[in-house]
Amino acid sequence: MRSHYCGEVTADLLDKEVKLAGWVHRRRDHGGVIFIDLRDREGVVQVVVNPEQQHAFKQAESVRSEFVVLVKGKVRRRPEGTVNKNLPTGEIEIDTQELTILNTSEPLPFPIDDQYHEVGEETRLRYRYLDIRRPEMLSRLKMRAQIASYLRAFLDKRGFIDVETPFLTRATPEGARDYLVPSRTRPGCFFALPQSPQQFKQLLMMAGIDRYYQIVRCFRDEDLRADRQPEFTQLDIETSFLTEKEIQDIMEDMIRGMFKTLLNVDLPNPIERLPYSEAMRRFGSDKPDLRIPMELIDVGDLLRDVDFKVFAEPAKDENGRVAALCVPGGASLSRKEIDDYTHYISVFGARGLAYIKVNAESKDGLQSPILKFLPDEAINGILERTKAKVGDIIFFGADKTSVVNDSLGALRLKVAQDLNLIEAGWRILWVVDFPMFEQGEGRLSACHHPFTSPKAETVEELMQDPKRALAKAYDMVLNGSEIGGGSVRINSSEMQKAVFRILNITDEVAEEKFGHLLTAMRLGCPPHGGIAFGLDRLVMLMTGATSIRDVIAFPKTQTATDPLMDAPSTVEPEQLIDLSIRVVKTKE
Ligand code: AMO
Ligand code: AMP
Repeated sequence: MRSHYCGEVTADLLDKEVKLAGWVHRRRDHGGVIFIDLRDREGVVQVVVNPEQQHAFKQAESVRSEFVVLVKGKVRRRPEGTVNKNLPTGEIEIDTQELTILNTSEPLPFPIDDQYHEVGEETRLRYRYLDIRRPEMLSRLKMRAQIASYLRAFLDKRGFIDVETPFLTRATPEGARDYLVPSRTRPGCFFALPQSPQQFKQLLMMAGIDRYYQIVRCFRDEDLRADRQPEFTQLDIETSFLTEKEIQDIMEDMIRGMFKTLLNVDLPNPIERLPYSEAMRRFGSDKPDLRIPMELIDVGDLLRDVDFKVFAEPAKDENGRVAALCVPGGASLSRKEIDDYTHYISVFGARGLAYIKVNAESKDGLQSPILKFLPDEAINGILERTKAKVGDIIFFGADKTSVVNDSLGALRLKVAQDLNLIEAGWRILWVVDFPMFEQGEGRLSACHHPFTSPKAETVEELMQDPKRALAKAYDMVLNGSEIGGGSVRINSSEMQKAVFRILNITDEVAEEKFGHLLTAMRLGCPPHGGIAFGLDRLVMLMTGATSIRDVIAFPKTQTATDPLMDAPSTVEPEQLIDLSIRVVKTKE
């Protein structure tokens, strides 16, 4: 039907005849001459229809927005004064000979332009096929394809083998709830959709595949945020016979190469490595955004002996922390804004947000509700250590270490955003030396997942002090977003069972749930390790999108539903009978 995409018709094609197909973006009737902006995936071109072309003109008179039309015509230069330098097709227009309406369109629920901001997301998702007609969405999906294609080519060249793993499988722990699929052939039993192919990729190493990758969908029933989807895509990778450092080096090459090729951005070589403990101390986060210059500064040692209990108690507690965050230019924050921040961090357990404003050089220039509780010595120490300048505000967190880290870590991000303190550019790092375990409710849970190898070489060494044990785990963090995470794995069944025991999984339960893996570990298991990147998050960052939903063709809403297909939905009673399932309605 067509010779070119609309967006490809440039002055190079002057005087040539072209056939174009697309959607009527806009139609303007200029007293006798009809102008149509014809749009397809590659862009927009101006089509001119003169009354002399009787048939074409008659058709053009009846077209409306989003009609699908075919145009045959000659490329000619636009008249003086009507050239549009901002468009690749802006120098030319199509002198129409034939115009065929391939299909009509009813008026759309919202216009196809990038001024869609008033359109609610529910509506955008319900009519996603219209939403994707917008150039912004199309270009994001194109970028996504380029990213996937780059990654595949890189890994193919480095000897990685693309292997598919099952979706209908058994639960594998990644810390979220499972999506379950009932089995018809085994009534009362359920498959779980994989939260990741973690166990399969390890089994593939035991199978001798040596280097595996897969661009694969993962399913996690967890609370959704701007950077989380219930089904999302990982670039999943596993290797044999490589050290932590060797795995990281290959991954760095891949990410650096991709940024250079697709965005012409030079990322540092090597990428800096930050131990987890340092990340928590300086930024209150295991995925620090290094574009923000502010850091958390310990001041507990200056406050151990003050009368103000809010500070003195956590300062003296070995599980407590008192830290300061000095915000440049923050002295101009109003009482209301500070109250809002106090409220903002209360969800992390913070019980208050003490502050000192530095309005002028002298002591009289300090403004703070806690000044009266602090001796001069402590105040001077704080000012010196935080290097606070006139015009700054110093915020304080005093509580259990985790509460201070979480709340000041979040405040750092929020304030930086509000006060425009985020520097431009790309800041990438590895966070390394994660702890093996974290304290859950009453028991330890795995920081990464339970297959991660401890740094300890022997079970005895690990058992000495599991709470302090470090893992051979690493995350890649880009501009404050965790884009990938991985580890070297346990490859002995003895160590694996020891880790399970620490996690309160008895040998019996371990055998029942993970017997296949434990057996495989005894049947010639090579040292192995890998990583998985969140493809959607990478695409989101690389396209500048603010939500993960904007880089997925058909995403779920915040409440994990699909308004386009209207899923999830009820099913026929017969289907439930087949599956031996009875649905119980609760009162609400
Ligand atoms: P992890 O759970 O860290 O590791 O996941 C790897 C990466 O996947 C992305 N990600 C998500 N993206 C969108 N929506 C979600 N709900 C979501 N959850 C995770 C993140 C994250 O860094 N099997 C291990 C990897 C390994 O050890 O090799 C795993 O899945 O970018
Ligand atoms: P109070 O004596 O409770 O009125 O607190 C005095 C100041 O300390 C107020 O500005 C509170 O917001 C702040 N504050 C109270 N508890 C904490 C805490 N755990 N960490 C930091 N600041 C706090």
